[in-house]
Amino acid sequence: MTVGVGFSGEVAEFYAKYRRGYPPPVIEALRAAFALTADDIVLDLGCGTGQLSLPLASQVRSVIGMDPEPDMLRLAAETAAGQGVRNVTWVLGADSDVPALGTLVGQGSLAMTVIGQALHWMRHEELFRTLAPLFRTGGGIAVVANGTPLWQQDCAWSHALRACLEDHFGRRLEATCGTAAHDRRRYAEALRTAGFTDVGETVIDYSDELTIDEIIGGVYSAVSEDKLPRHEDRPAFAERIHRSLPPGPYLESVQVSVLMGRGT
Ligand SMILES: C[S@@+](CC[C@H](N)C(=O)[O-])C[C@H]1O[C@@H](n2cnc3c(N)ncnc32)[C@H](O)[C@@H]1O
Repeated sequence: MTVGVGFSGEVAEFYAKYRRGYPPPVIEALRAAFALTADDIVLDLGCGTGQLSLPLASQVRSVIGMDPEPDMLRLAAETAAGQGVRNVTWVLGADSDVPALGTLVGQGSLAMTVIGQALHWMRHEELFRTLAPLFRTGGGIAVVANGTPLWQQDCAWSHALRACLEDHFGRRLEATCGTAAHDRRRYAEALRTAGFTDVGETVIDYSDELTIDEIIGGVYSAVSEDKLPRHEDRPAFAERIHRSLPPGPYLESVQVSVLMGRGT
């Protein structure tokens, strides 16, 4: 089993506090696409701190929130307890553990597997093939991209943030983390190859304003723990980011992409 992939310790805490969740239209799009009901079971693979598991829990009988990072799962479980959500089972595991999970839940048992901002960590072709027999009629996979990394957006403050971070980390920050159009084309093709049908994308757009603290917290939520500035260096790091950015407001245009494919 793969355990611990970089979202550990304080990074998990920054993730829980600063990463965007998903607005109701995203949950509604998922519900409608797979006609989710109160009898259904959903797998949220790479569930992190529960950004999708928790709102989906109110739509179905049971959610399996699966993730290889114990700290992410711990925070997800704490949030669920705080919200009184009792129908999510938190499972420590990665995509490589899905075959074993399949033997537990059985063929035709899942209404949906949702993968939010996490497929780029997985062997997606193998995963799609493994998941295919597990869906009930009308069920399937949803690959969700929650906007674009803060330093890769097409606006002045994001360009300035990227330049500042590239200078700090001493490397180009080019990884798209599965959020770019070419990533979605690759995933769509892999879904079709694995036998999924009705493969298509729904996009939900909205915009929101970010504070400097949210920008810095968002950056801290996206690095591995060993790359976080030391506590004593954080005020200077924050000041450096602040000075690099143009004056606010810092508007973020968020495009949530939901790529879906139906099992056969
Ligand atoms: C960016 S977070 C996404 C969390 C949440 N799904 C969301 O939409 O915000 C990525 C998550 O994928 C998990 N992850 C990394 N490698 C994985 C793998 N091979 N299988 C399953 N999950 C994985 C990480 O531990 C992390 O919690």
